Amino acid sequence: MHHFNYIDNELFCENVPVNTIAKKIGTPFYLYSHATLTRHFSIFEQAFEGVDRLVCFSGKANSSLAILKIFADLGGGLDIVSGGELFRGLKAGFTPQKIVYSGVGKRIDEIDAALSNGILMFNVESLEELELIDQRAKESGTTASVALRVNPNVDPKTHPYISTGLRKNKFGIDMETALEGYRAASRLQHIRMIGIDCHIGSQITEARPFQDALDSLKELVHQLQHMDIHIRYLDMGGGLGITYDDEKPPLPSEYARAIVESMGDLPLTLILEPGRVIVGNAGILVTRVLYRKPGPDKEFIIVDAGMNDLIRPTLYSAYHAIKPVELSGGATIRADVVGPICESGDFLALDRELADVVKGDLLAVMSAGAYGFVMSSNYCSRLRVPEVMAMGDTFEVIRTRQTYDDLIAGESVPEFLKEER
Ligand code: LLP
Repeated sequence: MHHFNYIDNELFCENVPVNTIAKKIGTPFYLYSHATLTRHFSIFEQAFEGVDRLVCFSGKANSSLAILKIFADLGGGLDIVSGGELFRGLKAGFTPQKIVYSGVGKRIDEIDAALSNGILMFNVESLEELELIDQRAKESGTTASVALRVNPNVDPKTHPYISTGLRKNKFGIDMETALEGYRAASRLQHIRMIGIDCHIGSQITEARPFQDALDSLKELVHQLQHMDIHIRYLDMGGGLGITYDDEKPPLPSEYARAIVESMGDLPLTLILEPGRVIVGNAGILVTRVLYRKPGPDKEFIIVDAGMNDLIRPTLYSAYHAIKPVELSGGATIRADVVGPICESGDFLALDRELADVVKGDLLAVMSAGAYGFVMSSNYCSRLRVPEVMAMGDTFEVIRTRQTYDDLIAGESVPEFLKEER
């Protein structure tokens, strides 16, 4: 459930007309509902009621400070994948003791920053990384808390680019090597092995793959117990899907039930790293129709947002519903909704039946709260768009639109190009 609804044929975000925001700040822009963000986090968290758990929002899905602050204030933790996300997380108010750090390619400076801030744990993805973390912890006179990210070789049945738990994917450590890793770690003096972790993929719409992964992890935990290695945390990663079109993913309560049931009586604290399921349907991208262009074979609706603003349709053939901000009559057309960028891959929808819009109309690209703004770029020297948060009948810009000066900030022309010839 989200808070983007029509009232008298006009799209509102909570009690704010989308059109009012467009008039004030221009288009395109991302728009988030505070009530939806709060509701989604709380529902997810409460789905695990009675279980010892920590919900670490996955910052990669949306790392704007205002959004992160909501989850930090609700007592949540944070899943990070870079030094930049650590920086943002701390700025937004997360306690380091609730931050987990995954990623196959952590750099030394990033490891050092995480160590000096005392994060909860590193989710380690290779034996070489384990050794490096041990060395860096020794250097700084600390001990690093670690989980090994295991690759359980489970098919999450999602888009190949966002499937991460198969042997052929770069993520995690296979079961046998993981066992070796836990053994090796007991000899490393600056590593404290406190957990086991997996993340099998994203936009997963069934509970089964999570249970299959958990079964593999349980087996490993039992083997560890026999080796007298006792861990404290079981991190199941993120991955629960949302409805973009007609998908029917498990509800958070169903997902929680499946995990808790499979977990059985393992005496471990559960960590979850949801991203999309919390923010995906809490945000939209608002864009304006620039032109309509009927062609011999099909019609194009040309809008002012492009693949640099929302790359999911281009990259994953992802579906995002597109709704008119102002409903008028019932007439529909079939068209490609495309952006201003110089690539045929620059589209938000292909061959889509949508409202019979005209030049100047506003459109809402739905379910754009996750992996929307964070994956945007300055391609074609287009300015990154603003982000707005609505709460009740008020709204505030939480990130301003870039300016042309922002576009060239940090650039310089070298002296040797300035010399007169
Ligand atoms: N934990 C780890 C270690 C991850 O790599 C991810 C996502 C998550 C948690 C959160 O997964 P979620 O709950 O959001 O599914 N850009 C793609 C999605 C990439 C996901 C990357 N990892 C998209 O737009 O669909």
